[in-house]
Amino acid sequence: MKAEIVTMTAEHPDRAALERAGEILKKGGLVAFPTETVYGLGGNALDPKASIKIYAAKGRPSDNPLIVHIAEFDRLTEIVTEIPQKAKLLAEKYWPGPLTMILPKAPVVPKETTGGLQSVAVRFPSDRIAQELIKAAGGFVAAPSANTSGRPSPTTAQHVIEDLGDAIDMIIDGGQVGIGLESTIVDFTEEIPVVLRPGYISLEMLRETLGEVRMDRGLLITDSKVRPKAPGMKYRHYAPKADLSIVEGPTEAVVAAINGYASDAEQAGRQVGIIATDETMEQYPKGIVKSIGSRAEEETIAHHLYEVLREFDRCQVSAIYSEAFYTPRMGQAIMNRLLKAAGHKVIKVSQD
Ligand code: TXA
Ligand code: MG
Repeated sequence: MKAEIVTMTAEHPDRAALERAGEILKKGGLVAFPTETVYGLGGNALDPKASIKIYAAKGRPSDNPLIVHIAEFDRLTEIVTEIPQKAKLLAEKYWPGPLTMILPKAPVVPKETTGGLQSVAVRFPSDRIAQELIKAAGGFVAAPSANTSGRPSPTTAQHVIEDLGDAIDMIIDGGQVGIGLESTIVDFTEEIPVVLRPGYISLEMLRETLGEVRMDRGLLITDSKVRPKAPGMKYRHYAPKADLSIVEGPTEAVVAAINGYASDAEQAGRQVGIIATDETMEQYPKGIVKSIGSRAEEETIAHHLYEVLREFDRCQVSAIYSEAFYTPRMGQAIMNRLLKAAGHKVIKVSQD
């Protein structure tokens, strides 16, 4: 293990360790840190060499741009050339928080950080450890999720250690993250704001503040000719090792269908994994059953999704079947990630 691990809480940040972490970043090193969404892999956003190191550590294609994290709204003007009125409104409402905005980049932001694009993604996280670290590092920290490219995003420091412990300089363990899904991304480089990645802040919430908002067509259509505008959304992310399928339909029919697959597998000497909810988990007598959370509290589902996918990578299962989670507010974000993990394999069942 190469990385130094330091542990702290948001209530009691370890100032000395944060200063050290800031120094590492200023010198071009890499530090993983907690945010309210998922853990980030930080490097100095204005240093092209640091961005190149981030891509190498994650094994990420270098055309997939990074998000620049700030800890003071006023410093936004240093890295963008224009802040449209609507972006200001949204920042007032949701920053600091799980919102990323795409804006035209200023020349100080190197093309290595933006994957060659003329725009830059910016986020002001609410997590206090993240804020202190960004300030200690000089104000601009580029940070993708701190997972190996293609694996589920990390929601605990342990996940970061598994993926990147040997590749980076320091990991700040601030405990489990609050939300568990990456930030909502809104593109302001077009006349009408466009959602490039759904997240905790839903389309309806955005429309309440901004009026007209579009969903990126590449997110709605599973046609390979319509490319998502956020380069990162085109990759098959979060893929678990076993084949994952989503079973969709009325609950009783879904439970019956999944139990059928579990029985067939058992007869063939195999075992399936099942992603259930607190409400249904007792109804699956066979297979390895994990509850993702409660339908009555959709936050719990978002919070456990990546963890459950990672846990199944450690189990010997021949296939994984998941219920669908079109919950009222975060359903769009949850299903966006789950569908990607499943490579859009959906089995539709009905009640007969
Ligand atoms: O919650 C989050 O946003 C986390 C935490 C660490 O802040 N970060 C995160 O970063 O999810 P990452 O790199 O895993 O995802 C960034 C996404 C990618 O899909 C990327 O293509 C898109 O943002 N993106 C970045 N800059 C962009 C730009 N200028 N135009 C369009 N998409 C952009
Ligand atoms: Mg990511």
